Amino acid sequence: MKVPKKISIKEVGPRDGLQNEQVLLSTSDKISWIDMLSVTGLSYIEITSFVHPKWIPPLRDALDVAKGIKRQPGVTYAALVPNRKGLERAISGNIDEAAVFMSASETHNQKNINKPISETLPILKEVITEATEAKLTTRAYLSTVFGCPYEKNVPLEQIVRISETLFEMGIDELSLGDTIGAANPVQVELILETLLNRFPKEKIALHFHNTRGMALANIITAMNMGITSFDGACGGLGGCPYAPGSSGNAATDDLIYMCAQMGIETGVELGKLLLAAKWIEEKTGRQLPSHNLQAAKSIDCFS
Ligand code: HMG
Ligand code: MG
Repeated sequence: MKVPKKISIKEVGPRDGLQNEQVLLSTSDKISWIDMLSVTGLSYIEITSFVHPKWIPPLRDALDVAKGIKRQPGVTYAALVPNRKGLERAISGNIDEAAVFMSASETHNQKNINKPISETLPILKEVITEATEAKLTTRAYLSTVFGCPYEKNVPLEQIVRISETLFEMGIDELSLGDTIGAANPVQVELILETLLNRFPKEKIALHFHNTRGMALANIITAMNMGITSFDGACGGLGGCPYAPGSSGNAATDDLIYMCAQMGIETGVELGKLLLAAKWIEEKTGRQLPSHNLQAAKSIDCFS
């Protein structure tokens, strides 16, 4: 197996995780948690989302969170940005990277961002151009690449065509989303074989949800094909309110443990990350899916 020496983990828990929680956290709790994550060795944290607060009420305090956190040198602080209005708010919150998002399938795109794909692309182009002019880096999420809750399989040509358009707009990274956690390693290999023929592997990230327990298997497959950028959520939080069946992201804790055991550098201290996972678990009031968090609790690691 070809595994990389080093991978980069993009922590999306404060955005993908908290957007989907029933318990509403206070702004100061969000800030405290992000500050804990900032000192774990993570180099990238997606801290919030500048979408319409009516659509994602748990993140309605996005600007206060962005203004309240203690920034650590060397950490990129990113946020989800759907449109120009979101970008204005993100810039006033001093965000380093704007993450635009859309879906490879028409129905999920419509349900998630209230527009067909054809009307979404010009909006994203505008955001990417203006963000770049404002010296922000940009990433684009392409959701439902490995399956759509409404349309099931999404044609590969459609994934290629939209990816091409997003790269032409100048994005720095494309994160391919397994929004409903439906992917399997054979499918990951098939899709990556096609995409890596067209786009540089350094510009592709993978965003697996772990609905069916396949996230780490899929990550190993992608690593074996040269991908080194992976999204994860502390504690295994995560989910898209507009994708039925979408549950937690790949748990950052489990990803770090696996990499450490395999001799792959992540730069993140598992002990510190687990403390942050335990802290947010207590705030959410439910048992989180991270295996390493539950294992650490069962052997009294925190006492
Ligand atoms: P819309 O209602 O179609 O927007 O929402 P609009 O442009 O027609 O504007 C309507 C009103 O909203 C206007 O106000 C705008 O000013 C306001 P009015 O003039 O009527 O008073 N508005 C805004 N206000 C604040 N911030 C903004 C903003 N934009 C417009 N940014 C929109 C379109 C995209 C904004 C809406 O559909 C939305 O916010 N959707 C949220 C979708 C979302 O956050 N989904 C979850 C994240 S995606 C995900 O989880 C997948 C991912 O993790 C990858 C994966 O797993 O695959 C990324
Ligand atoms: Mg997601």
